[in-house]
Amino acid sequence: MSIQLNNVSKTYHLKGRSVEALKPTSLKVETGEIYGLIGYSGAGKSTLLRLINLLEKPSAGSVIVGEDNLTELTPKALRIRRQKIGMIFQQFNLIESKTVYENIEFVLKASKYSKKDVPARIEELLKLVGLNDKSSINASNLSGGQKQRVGIARALANNPDILLCDEATSALDPDTTKSILNLLKNINKTLGITIVIITHEMEVIKEIADRVGVMSGGEIIESGETYSVFSHPKEKITKDFVQEIYNFETPPQIKETPDNQVITIQFLSENAEENYLNQLYRNFDLNISILNGRIEYIKEKPLGFLMFQVSGNAQEIERLKTHIDKTPGIERVGYIG
Ligand SMILES: Nc1ncnc2c1ncn2[C@@H]1O[C@H](COP(=O)(O)OP(=O)(O)O)[C@@H](O)[C@H]1O
Ligand SMILES: [Mg+2]
Repeated sequence: MSIQLNNVSKTYHLKGRSVEALKPTSLKVETGEIYGLIGYSGAGKSTLLRLINLLEKPSAGSVIVGEDNLTELTPKALRIRRQKIGMIFQQFNLIESKTVYENIEFVLKASKYSKKDVPARIEELLKLVGLNDKSSINASNLSGGQKQRVGIARALANNPDILLCDEATSALDPDTTKSILNLLKNINKTLGITIVIITHEMEVIKEIADRVGVMSGGEIIESGETYSVFSHPKEKITKDFVQEIYNFETPPQIKETPDNQVITIQFLSENAEENYLNQLYRNFDLNISILNGRIEYIKEKPLGFLMFQVSGNAQEIERLKTHIDKTPGIERVGYIG
């Protein structure tokens, strides 16, 4: 199911003050896609997400889900349509005093799911999220990762075609985050559910998002296919997010001069790194010492950075830079370090 926001905006009014949480924004998310939105706190991510299922009413603009213009539905029609849009949250939103079974049952009852089919449906959902043996455990006794699995089972109970995720892994440790992201990927692939995920964590985006939008100040300031956004970031904030994963720092004791420079390059393909360095060692009469290097996988495609110090003849260093600039798949970057 596709999602289309047409010039949607949201202004909150509080005690005579107004906050433009989302500036007029248009966005199309394709059926079966995983779309990620990343931004710092206060960027407007949750507002945008909550406009998709009209948990927040837009101040202007329209929200089209599949064929339906949600902004024009009656409250009753909207309530029914919303059952096909699941949502999960950072804080899981479970009924802590109830069992896993009862938590899921609650959602099915609310949607008037045929009573006799409920037990089988719950079993099916528990299997899907890997909690087959936890049915009778109280939600309060589950780990964070297990709680989010119940959250996902609840969100999927009514066979939604869209799943909205608001910082769904932000309360979880890195390993559990990975396992939840894998589950979401699996659900996307096997059930064909369109997923919109908002987060402040690069880890989430680089693992799971087909496309990404970077949000700041109530706007999507940069967007595109995830790998291309993060291999060629344009906006400062986008660069900061890349910098955050690679975490390179230019050693402060290095004083850069024409004959002593720090160069950072990025590799857009795998295994090229070592060969390329050997080439540089062989072909240039320079001292080259590596300061930092790291390869990360963004949507399963490698993106490597290498930072090194070169010293020697200034003209020879310029020749080396020209060589880098002419080599396909390798680029100098100025924003890392
Ligand atoms: N219900 C609300 N009433 C007033 N202001 C709000 C409300 N919800 C969010 N805001 C404000 O809107 C801006 C965007 O918030 P939010 O969408 O929650 O950002 P994010 O999810 O990126 O952290 C913030 O300045 C926030 O304080
Ligand atoms: Mg938020």
